[in-house]
Amino acid sequence: MRSRIPSFIMIPSFLSIIIFMFYVFFRSYNHIYYLVHPITISFLIVTTILLWILEFVNSLIFRKKLQSIEEKERIKIFEENEGNYFYRLYKFIFHDPKKMNDGVKKIDHGFDGIIELDNRLPMWWIHLFYMTIIFSAIYFFSYLFMDFSNPYKEYEIAYKNQLKQIEIFEKNTPQVTIENACFKENLIDSGKTLFDENCATCHQSDGSGNIGPNLTDDYWINTKEKNLFKNIFSIIWNGSDNNPTMRAFGKSGEIKGNDIEKISSYVYFINQKSKKPLTSKAPQGKKITEWSKI
Ligand code: HEC
Repeated sequence: MRSRIPSFIMIPSFLSIIIFMFYVFFRSYNHIYYLVHPITISFLIVTTILLWILEFVNSLIFRKKLQSIEEKERIKIFEENEGNYFYRLYKFIFHDPKKMNDGVKKIDHGFDGIIELDNRLPMWWIHLFYMTIIFSAIYFFSYLFMDFSNPYKEYEIAYKNQLKQIEIFEKNTPQVTIENACFKENLIDSGKTLFDENCATCHQSDGSGNIGPNLTDDYWINTKEKNLFKNIFSIIWNGSDNNPTMRAFGKSGEIKGNDIEKISSYVYFINQKSKKPLTSKAPQGKKITEWSKI
C-alpha cells in the first residue's frame, strides 16, 4: 500500500488541470470571463465537492485496510507515512536515500564482463513524463477541434487584430491636408489600390482616361495650384468647378486626407514617372510642363 497524497495537494492539482482545459477549449470565446462565469464557478465547486467526497471514501477504505493487515505491514506503512507531508513528498520524488539501492537490478551483459546497474528512474522524472502525456492529449484535441494552437486560426485572429489596430491608428492620427501633403514613393502601391476602387471607372486603372480625362498627359483642365502634386490633391479634395461629374471626394468626406495623399502619389507617379499607356484619351485643357517645385 502506498502512502497517500493529501487532499490539499490532490484537489488543487485536479482543479488546475480542469481550469487549464477550460482555458484551452473555451478560449475561442475570446476573453477570460468564462473563468468567472457562474456556470464555470458552479462546475468547479461541484467538482471540488466530488473530489472531497472521493477523498473521504478513499481515506475510509485506507483505514479499513489498515485494520485488516498484519501488524508488521501496518508498522511499515506508519513508518512510510511519518513526518510531514513535504518531507514525504521529498522522499517520494527524490527517493529515500536509505532505500535508494534496494532492489536495484543488475544486468549482466556477460560477454564483456560489464554489469549494468538498472537504477530506478527518479520520481520527478516519471511524473514529468506523465504530465507531458496529459498535456499532449489536451493539446492534440485542442488542435483538432479548437482555435487553440492551430497556427492558421491563430494567424487569422492576429491578422484581424492587426487590421483593427491599423484602423484605430488611422482614426487617431491627424489626416494630411493640402498644406503638408507631398509625393511619397512608398504610397504609390496603396494609392493604386485606392485608385482602382474609386477612380478607375472614369479614368481607367492606368489613368489613360474614359469619362474623365487622361491623367498621364501634360494637358490639364483644372489648374488651381502651381505645384503639380498639390494640384492633383486639390482636384480630388475639391472636385471640378466646371464639371460636377468629378466630385469633391475630400470635402464630402468620402475619402480621407491620408488616402487622398496616397491616390495623389499614384496619379503623380503615372503622370511623371512611369511609362505612358499605349492608348489614351485625346488631350483636354492646356498643356502645362512647367510646374512649381513647391
Ligand atoms: C464619375 C466619374 C469620375 C470619377 C469616379 C472620378 N473622376 Fe476624376 N474626373 C472626371 C471628369 C469628368 C473630370 C473632368 C473634370 C473637368 O472637366 O473639369 C475629372 C477630372 C479629374 C482630374 C483633373 C484632370 C484635369 O485635366 O484637370 C483629376 C486629377 C482627377 N479627375 C482625378 C480623379 C481621381 C484621383 C479620382 C478618384 C478618387 C477620380 N478622378 C474619380 C470624372 C471622374
